[in-house]
Amino acid sequence: MSELVLSETDGHVGILTLNRPKVLNALSLELMDELIGRLEAFDADDQIYVIVLSGSERAFAAGADINQMADQSVVDMYLRNQFAKWERIKRISKPIIAAVSGYVLGGGCELMMHCDIIVASETAQIGQPEINIGIIPGAGGTQRLPRAIGKFQAMDMVLSGRFLTADEAYRAGLLSRVVPVEHFRSEAIRLAHELAAKPPLQLRMAKEAVLKAWETPLALGMEYERKLLYLCFATQDQKEGMKAFIEKRKPEFVGR
Ligand code: CAA
Repeated sequence: MSELVLSETDGHVGILTLNRPKVLNALSLELMDELIGRLEAFDADDQIYVIVLSGSERAFAAGADINQMADQSVVDMYLRNQFAKWERIKRISKPIIAAVSGYVLGGGCELMMHCDIIVASETAQIGQPEINIGIIPGAGGTQRLPRAIGKFQAMDMVLSGRFLTADEAYRAGLLSRVVPVEHFRSEAIRLAHELAAKPPLQLRMAKEAVLKAWETPLALGMEYERKLLYLCFATQDQKEGMKAFIEKRKPEFVGR
């Protein structure tokens, strides 16, 4: 594999860093293939409980690679169907924390919205500027954005292409936490370690349940949540968590 996406591990945390600095981490076909492969590898690795996905301080990602799309015909785009494989990111079962800074645009914003918790630097600029280059978003910008921040904020971003500041995006509900630029990556990794100390199966079940809220009517989501809650009672970590509470000690989770 080339190094379009850097991969490292730190205890039970897997850290991926987008690495095309000269083009502000534009999401080429090759980069996306590598990213999806590396995410799936962490998902399959029993020792990894939480994933962090980061870019650089200047750019998380400035969108899909415009050079790879500019001359394409509709048939080329249809056959290539490049955004369909992003569905595989949605199927990653472990929590993904996005650590974003600088430009978070187009496909970069859509990639961020595939993650589960977003730690942003106060310098982040977040937008869906596709309208300015004669297209519309294609990896969830018109679908996930309204679910995250409501119709009117989303419509404003998608139609005007304007960038939100980190503060605006936080207030709109698009970011989980905003921190000074020098801490965005370390804070995301710190949070990942905090989550990695929790029961890892339950982390995955909780993620699965919350994601259902995006995709199903409330009644179905409630049923799904209850089934997953009951499933927790089949795990050693549920027994350990409750026993430790009653015995007034710290639980020791084993991921079973
Ligand atoms: N694709 C390919 N290359 C890109 C790129 C992209 N999305 N974004 C930036 N680059 C390249 C630039 O072409 C430039 O390369 P050169 O040095 O070889 O000229 C380099 O990155 C640095 O960019 P700028 O010189 O433009 O830097 P800037 O600071 O002046 O501007 C910017 C930064 C505002 C982010 C500007 O680069 C920009 O507007 N980029 C495009 C943003 C965009 O339209 N994104 C949506 C893409 S389409 C999409 O994502 C579809 C989808 O829904 C999935």
